[in-house]
Amino acid sequence: MSFFSTRRGFLKASGLVGAAGLTGAIGCKIPTRKHDHVGGLACAPLETVKVGVIGLGMRGPGAVSRLSAIPGVRVVALSDLFEARVNNRVKWLTDHGFSAPTRYFGGTEEWKKLVKNPEVNLVYVTSPWQMHVPMVKYALENKKHVVCEVPMVFTVEECWEIIELAEANRCHCMLLENCCYGESEMLALNLVRNNVLGTLVHGEGAYIHDLRGLMFAGNGYEGFWRLKWNAMHTGNPYATHGLGPICQYMSVGRGDQMRVLTAQSSGAFGMAEYAAAHKAQLDELKATRKGSKYGMTDQRALSGPWMRGDMCTAVIKTELGRTIMVQHDTTSPRPYSRINLISGTKGILKDYPLQIALDPEYKAPHLGWCNQAQMKEIQAKYRHPLWRDSGEIAKRMGGHGGMDFLMDLRLCYCLQNGLPLDINVYESCQWSVLAELTETSVKNDGAPVEVPDFTRGAWRDLKPLGIETVNLEVDKNAKADKQLSV
Ligand SMILES: NC(=O)c1ccc[n+]([C@@H]2O[C@H](COP(=O)([O-])OP(=O)(O)OC[C@H]3O[C@@H](n4cnc5c(N)ncnc54)[C@H](O)[C@@H]3O)[C@@H](O)[C@H]2O)c1
Repeated sequence: MSFFSTRRGFLKASGLVGAAGLTGAIGCKIPTRKHDHVGGLACAPLETVKVGVIGLGMRGPGAVSRLSAIPGVRVVALSDLFEARVNNRVKWLTDHGFSAPTRYFGGTEEWKKLVKNPEVNLVYVTSPWQMHVPMVKYALENKKHVVCEVPMVFTVEECWEIIELAEANRCHCMLLENCCYGESEMLALNLVRNNVLGTLVHGEGAYIHDLRGLMFAGNGYEGFWRLKWNAMHTGNPYATHGLGPICQYMSVGRGDQMRVLTAQSSGAFGMAEYAAAHKAQLDELKATRKGSKYGMTDQRALSGPWMRGDMCTAVIKTELGRTIMVQHDTTSPRPYSRINLISGTKGILKDYPLQIALDPEYKAPHLGWCNQAQMKEIQAKYRHPLWRDSGEIAKRMGGHGGMDFLMDLRLCYCLQNGLPLDINVYESCQWSVLAELTETSVKNDGAPVEVPDFTRGAWRDLKPLGIETVNLEVDKNAKADKQLSV
């Protein structure tokens, strides 16, 4: 057997084995720190948050209307490739009594003018994945606070570039992980902080959402960017909806830290079968679409093959010995689930549907899953204060049942009050970078991959996220629209 025919031989030859000391794991190098960390970064309060939103496809328009409803926030600039999409949002704003923002559209680089606009003090990125890193980096280079849709970044190298810029310029850089603000997720966080579940042992999160129809739709993702990603990559590119909340419960990055990950993917069966079953419709679409963006032609994206396996399952082990399972499947006909399971020495919470069980030894109400009355009691007692204070308006404003609005509300409140944001740049990078880490593990048949410590040791001292709310009165007549369920 030759040296290169064994997995360890391949890994050794590629210089990846145990570079930072984990026997057998594909290692990583940690660059030397040049600046102070920005884990609990507090910046000068922004009297008015003046937002520039880039990307007005399915996701961006809802952000524009949600943000406009928050006191002390103005949407001052908008950018998209298409003039009609920008004009549509300008009309919505002016129809609702807000001033017209500056418009940027047309060329692929027009968004840079929005970043440079001196009025803008927060750049809000809702563009395709392939544009996230250049947009986030450019905002930080121009000393603007920036928040970005999920996932913010894809490779370890890009993470270090973004961290270096955030640390050098002392700007906020936050992943817009709305699922951290879900009602069940915040209930779980409150249960954990009140030690109801005991010492945390294991968590599970996922993104299981059948997106086949949307990925192949002519009026879906602009330029078929998600299909193109699937054609070029495997692993889990979209881990953060399930992973982010679990990391907050476990204070990963703030008292615990991810250490090593392994991942396996199933074969890519779903896309090919879907494409075959819809051949006539796709042939028609191919005949009309000749674009080439995001790394390949529309023709190639619609024809396949697609590399990403349908189901990717990763397991992460933390420094304190906890385990986290993360799954991704957007190509099977399964009901939506983020799993959202957190289990400790005294009890467990899981979602889809929401259930809680508590150990009778700790005087819990019930052996087995709590019944409806017990659930009601626990939900009332441990309702997160953010939901208690602003849940009703959030539900009315919408966006995934209100969590999108609460995310924006907390973000703007923190900026207005000079507080650290709920999700720092290290968490934003670590949750997102599962894209590369899972792909590396999958391509090496499930080999363990070391997870870089982006905090460079600061995780030991960073304070866990508390139970935070806001003190902001939102206009009761405020309205949002264009909320989508994706
Ligand atoms: N957090 C959530 O629940 C959630 C839900 C949906 C989508 N998302 C994320 O939001 C992002 C956008 O998703 P979407 O569904 O709206 O995609 P989309 O394709 O519908 O919209 C993207 C928009 O960005 C614009 N765009 C592309 N390149 C641009 C450029 N160079 N300059 C300016 N605009 C540009 C496109 O014209 C398009 O209007 C993705 O990162 C996605 O993962 C998050």
